Order: sequence, then C-alpha cells, then structure tokens
Amino acid sequence: MSPFLLTRTLPEDATEAALRADVLHGLGHTPKTLPPKWFYDAHGSELFERITELPEYYPTRAEREILLARAGEIAAASGARTLVELGSGSSEKTRHLLDALPDLHTYVPVDVSESALTQAGHTLIAERPELNVHALIADFTGGLTLPGTPGPRLVAFLGGTIGNLLPAERASFLSSVRSLLSPGDTLLLGTDLVKEPSVLVAAYDDAAGVTGEFNKNVLSVVDRELGADFDLDAFEHVALWDAGHEWIEMRLRSRAAQTVKIPALDLAVDFAEGEEMRTEISAKFRAEGVRAELAEASLDLTHWWTDTEGRFALSLSSAV
Ligand code: AVJ
Repeated sequence: MSPFLLTRTLPEDATEAALRADVLHGLGHTPKTLPPKWFYDAHGSELFERITELPEYYPTRAEREILLARAGEIAAASGARTLVELGSGSSEKTRHLLDALPDLHTYVPVDVSESALTQAGHTLIAERPELNVHALIADFTGGLTLPGTPGPRLVAFLGGTIGNLLPAERASFLSSVRSLLSPGDTLLLGTDLVKEPSVLVAAYDDAAGVTGEFNKNVLSVVDRELGADFDLDAFEHVALWDAGHEWIEMRLRSRAAQTVKIPALDLAVDFAEGEEMRTEISAKFRAEGVRAELAEASLDLTHWWTDTEGRFALSLSSAV
C-alpha cells in the first residue's frame, strides 16, 4: 500500500470567511461582482461536469485530445518525479499524464475541496499502488508551500482556469508559481484560445441552459451559506464576448428592481431592473500573449501544443 497524505493549509473556517469578504466587497459597490470560485459547491461541481459534456463546450475535449496526443512528449520534456496539480478536482484528466510519467514518485493534487481530494486520492492509489499521493487542501491563488518531494517537479494548471483571473491576478499567480520552481522544474499550463465569437458565446450560453443554471448556482451558495434570499428566477443568465479584453464575461441580470437581504452580513442589496452583476471572466489567449505573460514571470515557454482544430493550447515552460 502506498501512502496517502492529506495536508490542510487552510483553516477549517477559511472558506466561509472568504465568502463573506467576497460578497461584502463584490455587492457593496457598482458594478456588482461575485468571484467565480463560489460556483463550485457539490451541485455546482456536478453542473460543471455536465457542462464539459455539452456539444457547445469544446475546451475539455480539446484539452483531453492534446493530453492524449502529447503525454509522452510532456513526460520526456519534464522528466518529472513529482507532479503538482493546481485545482485538481477529480484528477480525471491527470490520469493520462500520470500514466505517461515513467519516473513519477509523488503526485501532489492541490484543491480547496477536501472531499474531492480524498475521493480522487483513494481512487488513484487503488489503481497505482506504487504512487505516493500527498494531497494539499489549499487555495492555489495564495502562497503555497509544497512538500519536500524529489525533483524535477512538473506543476500542472489545466482546464483554462487561469482565464478566470484578471490580468494583474494572472501576473501575481504566475510569479507565485514561478517561486515554487527550481531549475529544471516545469509548468504545464492549459489556455483556451481566441476564436470566432459565436463559438465562444455558444460555449458559455448553451442551448440546454446548463451554463445558466451553473451561473445562478452562485446565488444558491450565498443563500445557503449566508442566509440570503436571492430568488434564482429573478435573474437572467448573460454571456458576452468582450472583444477589447478578449474574454467571455458571464453576468446575472436582475429581471426587476429588487432588494436582496443577506442576514449573515447584516446587509440589504438593491438591484435596479436590468442591472448586471459580473460572475466570471474567462479570458481567451493567443500564443504571443501566453509567451509574454510567462516571460514576465521569468518562465520560458519551450513547448506549445494545440488540438487539431487549434481551439485550445497546452504550453510547457521552465524556470529561467
Ligand atoms: C473551469 C474555469 C475552465 O472558464 O470555461 C464553464 C468554467 N464557466 N462554463 C471556464 C466555466 C462557464 C470554466 N473553467
């Protein structure tokens, strides 16, 4: 039996404190915003899994295609003995990578969800009894401390989730990732690419309405956790392409003038009819932009792989 270790770097109550702070800040001024990380309670995670299977939502399939085609090259270029995965969730797509890394000693999944880590960790060690799994309960956007496992290390951040960060947040995220790397270590980064706006908008406004349900789920989270009285039917899902910033923006539009009470914060929030609240940005990238953002964080892009349709990219970069 291989060891399964779980390290908590977040206090038990950190999640609720962070939600309170985000809601207080995001709904306290105009335009209103809520950060996308609050979509992912159990129901939201399930809705996201359904999104990944929608005909319109291509990123998951495109990234899987690249991972399947390039796992051997990624393994050879990284020579990884430790694989760190940020935002590992169910560790589903990591399997292709794990199977391709011949010298892998330890897998370090990092996620804020303890249940996802425990479930994924136990499934993995049952399949790969020789692998060490050291799971970290941590917020990867904050400062991480990695366990002292053998190098080289490969840090993977997949799914295009980096696109949920604003440019300044991406810069500080990439430099904190860079600070985890020693010479010879690498970063594998998944980025969705700029393409025809109609294709992008459809991926975030699917015909079956699953993304709309996912978007509104953030209101259920605030209702449950902070005792708020958001009525999900009083808001409409909006997805638009911001051509200037080259990002998709998801919003919730208030169908009427209304006041929402949030007892845990002793707050009443007014919405005007038609007022829009931003719940997510999902930035889309170009090769030159990714290379430049990595270089700004002292990371040297060495490999760039896309799916055959050129919709999504995986890049490998190394510490310089
Ligand atoms: C999980 C952050 C990669 O931005 O495409 C899916 C989340 N939002 N549909 C994305 C999401 C709406 C997704 N990421």
